[in-house]
Amino acid sequence: MRANFPIVVMISGRGSNLEALLNAPEAQYYQTISVISDNADAPGLEHARRRNIPFTAFPRGSFESRAEQKAAIYRAVEELRPAAIVLAGFMQIVEAEFVQRHFGQLLNVHPSLLPEFPGLHTHERVLAFRDAERAAGRSRALQNGRMQHGATVHFVDAGMDTGPIISQAALSVADEDTVDTLAQRVLELEHRLYPWALGALARGLIKLEGRVVRYAPEAREEAKVRGFSLSACAP
Ligand code: GRF
Repeated sequence: MRANFPIVVMISGRGSNLEALLNAPEAQYYQTISVISDNADAPGLEHARRRNIPFTAFPRGSFESRAEQKAAIYRAVEELRPAAIVLAGFMQIVEAEFVQRHFGQLLNVHPSLLPEFPGLHTHERVLAFRDAERAAGRSRALQNGRMQHGATVHFVDAGMDTGPIISQAALSVADEDTVDTLAQRVLELEHRLYPWALGALARGLIKLEGRVVRYAPEAREEAKVRGFSLSACAP
């Protein structure tokens, strides 16, 4: 089956989510037509190179200003006319104007259960929060004494990690978890969650109406089987 859902993946670094998106069984539903990076040395570009997927880097040093760098990136993405623009460890704030133009097409994966812990260093902050809750004798934010953490795939809006949530995958933080083990465990969730969400979007099983994410029954069933949760506000 030839995918009819061209996507552009935007990265800045390691590219493990890009690799997962390329290797997942769900990749049959979308076609990665290009990888765009703001960093010429991003190790993740290797995944594109190996598979002969066109990729372009727009390093800051090749432009007079960050604004020009961003404008060139956005132009390149738009010329490709993708059905979805997939941020996968793209470490720049995306301009509000670009976000508005592509609202509903622009996706991101974030290493926390949004709206909790937006921004950077989520694993450190989750562990610190858990420790502070325990020290204060509070258990409100804990489930059976364990903190919940995980990954979120969401549509991007102009805020910081505030766009409509598509799907989440959760885990319980173990007492022996460190920042590194937690980062690895959450990353594994991301690698399953992102291809599924994108595949469901490509198949038309997930739709955005205004800011409400709607799910076809198949999407609900598939999410349930995989242990993913869906946006609570959708009927
Ligand atoms: C992931 O943790 C993702 O949640 C965040 O950036 C990281 C990217 O990792 N947005 P990788 O480059 O995909 O390995």
